[in-house]
Amino acid sequence: MSGLDDVIAAETTLSEVDGLNGRLVICGRRLDELAGKTSYEGVLALLYADLLGEDEKTIRTRLGQARLRAFHHVAHIDSDLLALSLTEGLRALMARLPDGEDKSTALLLTAAPAVFLPALIRRKAGEDAIAPDATRNHAADMLAMLNATPASAAAVLALETYLVTVADHGLNASTFAARVVASTRAGYTSSVLAALGALKGPLHGGAPGPVLDMLDAIGAPDKAGGWLASELAKGERLMGFGHRIYRVRDPRADALKGALQRLGAAGGMNAGRLALAEAVEREALALLRFAKPGRTLETNVEFFTALLLEALGFPREAFTGIFATGRVGGWIAHAHEQIAKGRLIRPQSIYVGPKAA
Ligand code: ACO
Repeated sequence: MSGLDDVIAAETTLSEVDGLNGRLVICGRRLDELAGKTSYEGVLALLYADLLGEDEKTIRTRLGQARLRAFHHVAHIDSDLLALSLTEGLRALMARLPDGEDKSTALLLTAAPAVFLPALIRRKAGEDAIAPDATRNHAADMLAMLNATPASAAAVLALETYLVTVADHGLNASTFAARVVASTRAGYTSSVLAALGALKGPLHGGAPGPVLDMLDAIGAPDKAGGWLASELAKGERLMGFGHRIYRVRDPRADALKGALQRLGAAGGMNAGRLALAEAVEREALALLRFAKPGRTLETNVEFFTALLLEALGFPREAFTGIFATGRVGGWIAHAHEQIAKGRLIRPQSIYVGPKAA
């Protein structure tokens, strides 16, 4: 009961997570029909059909304009904000955006993480933030704002595949948080802030950085088995494995592995790093099958996320924020759906404390 495992708390037309068959459907389209094949703006056209009712091309234009609006807030990055972690810095900048339940607020919030994160990364490194270019697509502009130079087509496709892959995923913890806040009619910004808080935890969106820490600690493929076995013997969880809903392989892991392999083929990925990751995955799955026979623990989305975002040049501290850059589309679509069709979310608890006299 403590994890609300079997509780159905919303009806949605946005996404279906089929944990038994390892299938993710977004607005009637399977993930493998979308990942690597459509832009982030394309998936927003699906998720925001009810909210905006606009096609991919129009959303691309409006999102570009919203990135320019978001960039005005970059001027508020000061030394206090730079002292925070990247996720906390992103949260603080997002909190400056006005609340509302209108299309303009939705677009500004959707655009903002792609602008704020590169700006925070650059400012922390002592460099100037780069202004957005509204004519680029969202993924291409995010990379250009990070590196101050246009990204290769392979890198843009890889980031786009990532943003599409994580755009929505049923009633995960952060989306539920967004819907709870939306149900109080606090506004989209408050919903997104609640979601960002939930995403930050290592059991949700905070795992990809630790996946790389694990790969660094292992160092070489032949060390994987021994290192992982000793972690399991200490009762530690292996980052990037296991999922509350999937009882088979997370389909998002395959979408991202495909993106990584394409990036590798275009020369954008270190072959040794990929070989190490494949060895770690193989050993981890074998050990987990033995260690937890009653529980199918498979590779989750975070494992290949870590490698993909590292190959694209993002520091590991930024990974949770990049997750938010993709998932913000799902959060806002769910907030809109909750407001349109739902009621105030107000579950009950059972009191098990001491009886009053
Ligand atoms: N490594 C080792 N053991 C694990 C792992 C793991 N990665 N995941 C679960 N287990 C074990 C648990 O310790 C538990 O063992 P026990 O029954 O002996 O106590 C058993 O498997 C069942 O675990 P639950 O806690 O019921 O699994 P739950 O569904 O609550 O957790 C979670 C899912 C949080 C993702 C978990 O698998 C985990 O901590 N994974 C590592 C962190 C991670 O990769 N997070 C990203 C998740 S993906 C996402 O949110 C986008």
